[in-house]
Amino acid sequence: MAYSIAIDGPAGAGKSTIAKRIAKELSYIYVDTGAMYRAMALFFLREGIKPEEEEKINIECQKADITIEYQNGEQQVILNGENVNGLIRTEEVGNMASATSVNGNVRAKMVELQQQLAEKADVIMDGRDIGTKVLPKAQLKIYLTASARTRAERRYKELREKQFECDIETIEKDIIERDYRDMHRENSPLMQAEDAVLVDSSHMSVEEVAEHIIQLFREKIKC
Ligand code: DC
Repeated sequence: MAYSIAIDGPAGAGKSTIAKRIAKELSYIYVDTGAMYRAMALFFLREGIKPEEEEKINIECQKADITIEYQNGEQQVILNGENVNGLIRTEEVGNMASATSVNGNVRAKMVELQQQLAEKADVIMDGRDIGTKVLPKAQLKIYLTASARTRAERRYKELREKQFECDIETIEKDIIERDYRDMHRENSPLMQAEDAVLVDSSHMSVEEVAEHIIQLFREKIKC
């Protein structure tokens, strides 16, 4: 039986940084599901599709073939044969991903792929609906959060390091809007699963959060 850890939470809570670290320590595969929705969003942006064009999204999403590969342990997202890893981290793509991930057909396609990945290997998967929908039987579910300001500050630092022009007020406003959309959509809204453990990382270092989660996991599986 393959083991799985589900980490859900709002944008910028540190899910991917922490999940990557835990994956390395446990030799698990890290699956970043947000990157899949981002690849789909990039496809829509390139096709000139607007988030409100629901019918078009229903049809066009079937034309986007999204797969995952690993290079030196790093997840690569392949969109119709093209590695788009370097193109999906912009705020434009993130906002489009939040807006278009409300679509039921988009979600069904992504969830199927994610469940297939978790059947084959031990995974740590992060996203918005992992504990509630994708991996309801995960051995450990975490709901990782932090204050909107802390998350905006982290995103700002990350973007500046990559030399992207940005301002913190806009990032915080975007984060609050994105949280609202992710939490209030009809299909699989972001919420804490009943059996998930809440971890607030506002005043914790990456190491502290990762250690805490690994300890919780070891207790769960008793090893
Ligand atoms: O985690 P992220 O910022 O890369 O995700 C981008 C968007 O994708 C996010 O705003 C909501 C959506 N998403 C989702 O709906 N379900 C997931 N499991 C992961 C991401």
